[in-house]
Amino acid sequence: MTKKPPPLPVAGADVGLDILKGISRDRSLLTALTMMNKYVGSAFRITLPRFQPAVFIGPESNRQILVTERKDFLWRPESDPVCKLLRQGVLVIDGEFHDEVRGWMDPPLQRRNVNPHIPLFWRYTDDVVHTWRDGEEHDMLVEMRKVALLIIFGALFDVDFMPDMERLWEPIMDLLEYISPGLWIFWADMPRPKYRYAQQAMDDYLYEMIRRRRAELAQFGLEPAASDLLGQLVANSGMSDDLIRDQLLTMLIAGHDTSTALLAWVFYLLGMHPEAMARMQAEIDEVIGRQQEPPSAEQVQQLTYTDLVIKEALRLYPPIHVGQRRAGQDMEIQGYHVPEGTRIMYSIYLSHRDKRHWEDAEQFCPARFDRHSEQKQPPFTYVPFGGGPRNCIGAAFAQVESKVVLARLLQTFEFELLNGEEIKPYMGATLEPRPGVKMRIRRRE
Ligand code: HEM
Repeated sequence: MTKKPPPLPVAGADVGLDILKGISRDRSLLTALTMMNKYVGSAFRITLPRFQPAVFIGPESNRQILVTERKDFLWRPESDPVCKLLRQGVLVIDGEFHDEVRGWMDPPLQRRNVNPHIPLFWRYTDDVVHTWRDGEEHDMLVEMRKVALLIIFGALFDVDFMPDMERLWEPIMDLLEYISPGLWIFWADMPRPKYRYAQQAMDDYLYEMIRRRRAELAQFGLEPAASDLLGQLVANSGMSDDLIRDQLLTMLIAGHDTSTALLAWVFYLLGMHPEAMARMQAEIDEVIGRQQEPPSAEQVQQLTYTDLVIKEALRLYPPIHVGQRRAGQDMEIQGYHVPEGTRIMYSIYLSHRDKRHWEDAEQFCPARFDRHSEQKQPPFTYVPFGGGPRNCIGAAFAQVESKVVLARLLQTFEFELLNGEEIKPYMGATLEPRPGVKMRIRRRE
C-alpha cells in the first residue's frame, strides 16, 4: 500500500506571531506570503479563518499546475467576485468550453495581428501626453492607465474611448476594487451594493458597443479585420451578446490593469536607476531617433535593452503576482497531500525572487535576461504570463504595447522620480506601485 503524503506545513506558534506582526504592519497578504516562504518553505498552507489556501513556489509546482496536470486544476469558486463579474469570460471558465472560447479569441492576439496596432499604441500615447508642459509633475500610475485604456478599446474593440473616459473612469476603478482582495475573502456572501452601479454602467456601455457593431457589420456586409477582436466575436455565429460582453469585460480588466501596472513599475525602476534610463533612452535615440511617425515592427524588435528592462520589471513586480486554482480532486504537489476543493495559489512573485534560482534575486539587473548571460533558470521559474494552455492570451500584445509606449515617452521627455522612497507594492486587482509614481517631466530638446 502506498503511503499517503503528509499535509502541507503551516506556520508554527513561534513564527506565527512574527508573521501576524508583519501583516498588521504592512496590511498586505504579500508580506504574509513572503514571510511564510522564509520561515516555512516553498509549499505551505495559510490558516486564517475561512481563508486557507495552499501556496506553492518554484518551477516544479508551476509546471505541474500549468501544464502536466493542468486538467486537475479548476478555476476559482463561483462565489469569487472575479467569477461573478466576468461570468463566462475566458479567464474564469474551465474545461472544453474554455478551450473553445480561447480558440475564438486567440487569432486577433497573435503577434502578426498585434503589430498592425503599433501606430495606435503610438498615437494613444500622444493623445494622453500632448498637454504635458515642462516642469509638471505627473503620476505615471494614473497616466499609464489612461494610455492602456485607450489602447485596449482602440486596438481590440475599434472604439475611441477618449470621449467616455472621464465618465467611466470611476465605474472602472470601482470594478477593480470589487475584485481586489478584501474582506469578502473571509465573508463570501458579504453584501456589496456599492458596485452594482459600476457594473450597470459598464454593461450598458459594452452591450451598446456590441449592438452597434452587429448593426454595422449587417448593414455594410463587412468582413472584420483579423486584428479586430470585437468584430471577430460579433461575426462568430456561436456567440450571444452575453457571451461577447463577458469576453469584452475580461479583456478590458485583464488587458489594461496589468499593462498599467507594468508601465508604472518600469517608470519607478527607471527613476531609481537613472543609468538604466539613460541607456534605454540612448537605444531609443539610436533606433527611432527624432522620427515622429510610428516605428515599424522591425524597429520595435530592435529595442533589445528596453526589452530586458521590461522583462526585469515583470520579474521583480509581476502585475499578476499569484495565479489561483482549485483542486479538482485529491492530489499531491511538491510531496504534500492537497485535498479536493482546496484553493491553490502559485506565487509568481516569490518564484521570481527564489534565491535557489536567481542570483541577487532582490536586485534590479536587466542584463540577467541578456541571451549571452551566464545566468540561466530552469523553465517555469520565470512565469510573468503564466504558462501552458491557460497562459496569458495578451502576452504578445502587452510586450509590443509596452515597448512602443515607452519608446514614445522616452523619445519625447526626460523623467525624474520624486517619491521613490515611499513606493511599495500594493495588492489590488494587480500588484501596483502605491501611492503612485510621481515624476517631473521635461520635454527633450
Ligand atoms: C503586462 C501585462 C500582462 C501580464 C503580466 C499578464 C499576466 C497574466 C497571467 C499571469 C495570466 C495567467 C493567470 C493564471 O494562470 O491563472 C494571464 C491570463 C490572461 N490574460 Fe494576461 N497579462 C498581461 C496582459 C494582458 C493583456 C494585454 C490581455 C488582453 C489583451 C490579457 C488577457 C488575459 C486573459 C484573457 C487571460 C486568461 C487566459 C486563459 O485563461 O485562457 N492579459 N495574464
